[in-house]
Amino acid sequence: PLVTTGELVAAAAAAHSAVAAFNVVTLEHVEAVVAGAESADAPVVLQVSENAVKFRLGRLHPLARAAVAVAERAAVPVGLHLDHVQTDDLLRQAADAGFSSVMYDAARLPYAENLAATRAAADWARAQGLWIEAELGQVGGKNGAPPLDAHAPGARTDPAEARAFVADSGVDALAVAVGSTHAMTTRTAALDHDLIKRLSAALDVPLVLHGSSGVPDDELTAAVTGGITKVNIGTALNIALTGAVREYLDAHPQAVDARKYLGVGREAMAREVARTVRLLGRATS
Ligand code: G3H
Ligand code: ZN
Repeated sequence: PLVTTGELVAAAAAAHSAVAAFNVVTLEHVEAVVAGAESADAPVVLQVSENAVKFRLGRLHPLARAAVAVAERAAVPVGLHLDHVQTDDLLRQAADAGFSSVMYDAARLPYAENLAATRAAADWARAQGLWIEAELGQVGGKNGAPPLDAHAPGARTDPAEARAFVADSGVDALAVAVGSTHAMTTRTAALDHDLIKRLSAALDVPLVLHGSSGVPDDELTAAVTGGITKVNIGTALNIALTGAVREYLDAHPQAVDARKYLGVGREAMAREVARTVRLLGRATS
């Protein structure tokens, strides 16, 4: 069934565990995430990013309606989350399109501007009954930007600043910069586990890890142990999809039926989802 992201995150927090949230771009992504979560018998979050909406010709509703339809028939609880929203226009479409939660991303702005924009978004979200996540620090690697040096001074989230940011903005969860970077195609990120623990101790809202595709399995479970409650994964699904499609087309150069290669791509994504969800299911703090 379709449930709220807020209740999935709260349940994960109560269990000292984490919920996996996967970015979806096509209907095949949606079907694969739900099938993978069903085979692991675990709840999951479907995320649609502002960049995905741009790819869908600027329209949110077609992919959102597909996600709602698949989630409603799922054998496991599925949340629907609007991810990395930078424009008020998209933010205002969230509730109507069936989303229970949004991530408002003003992390590129200086602290005071990030706080002011996030507080306005949080006020609006609360009035709509939406759960809202925001970001402080710079996870980097967004929108095809060159990977940020995640170890550069100023890139990491400061615990005292994060505490003030959450109190002053009123957000429900915080995305933190702890060493991961978006869009990594190798699992080579080294996380700052001491910082995760300090952030977890300083904040009374759930912590969200972005750029999780680049994080090795043992680092990911350690991050959950340290206090990460929502794990965002996008690129790993596209690696699985593209690898399977490429292999199929290489082996079948005469193939024309889209169902054949999209089918193997969807299966590869579902296997990756099930693997990750099972891994997170074994991790507790
Ligand atoms: O919000 C989405 C995630 O941060 C995805 O990052 O594509 O590097 O896994 P990723
Ligand atoms: Zn992200």
